Amino acid sequence: MHSGLPTIHGFEHLSRIPLYVPGKPIQEVQREMGLTRIVKLASNENPWGPTEAVKARVAAAIAGSDTEGLNLYPVSDGHYLRKAIAARKGVALGCVVLGNGSSELLELVAKAAFLDGGSSVIPRHSFAIYGIATQTAGGRVIESKASATELDVDDVLRSVGKDTRLVYLGHPNNPTGIRLEQAALERLVRQLREDIVLVVDQAYAEYEDPADYPDAAAYLGERPNLLVLHTFSKIHALAALRMGYGLGSKELLGCIERVRSPFNTNHLAQVAAEVAVQDLAFEAFSRQKNAEARASFDLEATRHRCQVSGTSGNFVLLESAFPAKDLFKELLRRGVIVRPMTAYGLPNHVRVTYGKPEEMQAFWSAIGPLLDGGC
Ligand SMILES: Cc1ncc(COP(=O)(O)O)c(C=O)c1O
Repeated sequence: MHSGLPTIHGFEHLSRIPLYVPGKPIQEVQREMGLTRIVKLASNENPWGPTEAVKARVAAAIAGSDTEGLNLYPVSDGHYLRKAIAARKGVALGCVVLGNGSSELLELVAKAAFLDGGSSVIPRHSFAIYGIATQTAGGRVIESKASATELDVDDVLRSVGKDTRLVYLGHPNNPTGIRLEQAALERLVRQLREDIVLVVDQAYAEYEDPADYPDAAAYLGERPNLLVLHTFSKIHALAALRMGYGLGSKELLGCIERVRSPFNTNHLAQVAAEVAVQDLAFEAFSRQKNAEARASFDLEATRHRCQVSGTSGNFVLLESAFPAKDLFKELLRRGVIVRPMTAYGLPNHVRVTYGKPEEMQAFWSAIGPLLDGGC
C-alpha cells in the first residue's frame, strides 16, 4: 500500500475505495500560489451567512452558563435541536436524527445496512460520498444509468439486485444540479422494494421554491424505509460546524441509533443550528440571492458561448473544450477555486458555486481570457 509502511493484513481492499477529494481550502491556495486574494467557489457553501443571531448564540455558548460550557459534553442525542427541527418539519421528535454533517448520516445508514454485506444502487454522476459510504461499510456499489442532464428512475428500479439494501438519490443531485419531478419521485418511492431503504439526500432542497419542490418527506407516512436528509452546511451557512439531520420512521432511526456514536454532534453546532432552522427569513434571503446569481451566471455564460447544466442548488456545471483539470489549475493560478468533475465521470466539466456578485465578477475576469471568446 503506502511506501515505507508494512502491509497491514486485511487492509489491501481499502485501495479499491476512491478517496474523497474536498474543495481546496483558501489558506492552501494562498500558501501554494503566493496569492492573498482568493475566491472559493468550490464547496457549495453559502457566502451570505451565518446570521448575527447565530453568531451571538455560539458566542454565548462559548462564554458558558450554569447549563452549558465547553467543558461539558453536548446533549448526546441533540434533543433541543431535534425538537426545533421536528416542529419546523411537522414530524414527531422520534423521527429526527442528527449527524456530524449529513455526510455522517450517509455513512451511518450504510453502516447499519451493510453489517453483513449487500449492495446499494447509485445513479451515475452522484455525490461521491454515496459510493464511499457504501464501500467503507462493506457494501458493493451498483451504478444505475444517468446523464449530466437526466436521472433515470426506471434504471434505478431495474438495477436493484437481490442483495440491495439501499438506494441513494441526490435530490437535487450534486454535481449535476438535477432532480426528479413529483411523478418520477413517487414512482421510485412506491415501486422500490419495501425492504430497501431509499435515502433521499435533500442537501440543496431549500434553494428551491417550496411551492414547486417535490419534497420526499411527503412520503414518510407511507414508506417506513425512507430516509430524507438535510444539512446545515448549505443554505443555513454553517458548514464549519458540521451538522445535518435525517427524517425517517422511528423503526428506521432506531436502527441508525445502534451505529451512531454518542455525542456525534457538538454543542456549538447544536445551538447554532437551533437558531438557524427557525430563521425562515434568512433562508428566503439566501434563496433570492442564489436565484439572482444563477440568472446573471446564465447571462455571462451565454455571452461566452458556454454550455451550462443543472437548474437546482447553489452551483452550476460548466462544460468547456478544456480538460477540467487544466481549467481548474489555470483558475487556481488566478486565485479562483472551482471543482473539476473528472472523478465524477465528467472530464470537461467544472462545478462552480454561486458566490457574491463581486466573487462571480472575479470568476468571469479569470476565466474570460482563458476561454478566448468561447467555451
Ligand atoms: C448532495 C450532498 N449531500 C450531502 C453533502 C454533505 O454535506 P454535509 O456533510 O456538510 O452536511 C453535500 C456536500 O457538499 C452534498 O453536496
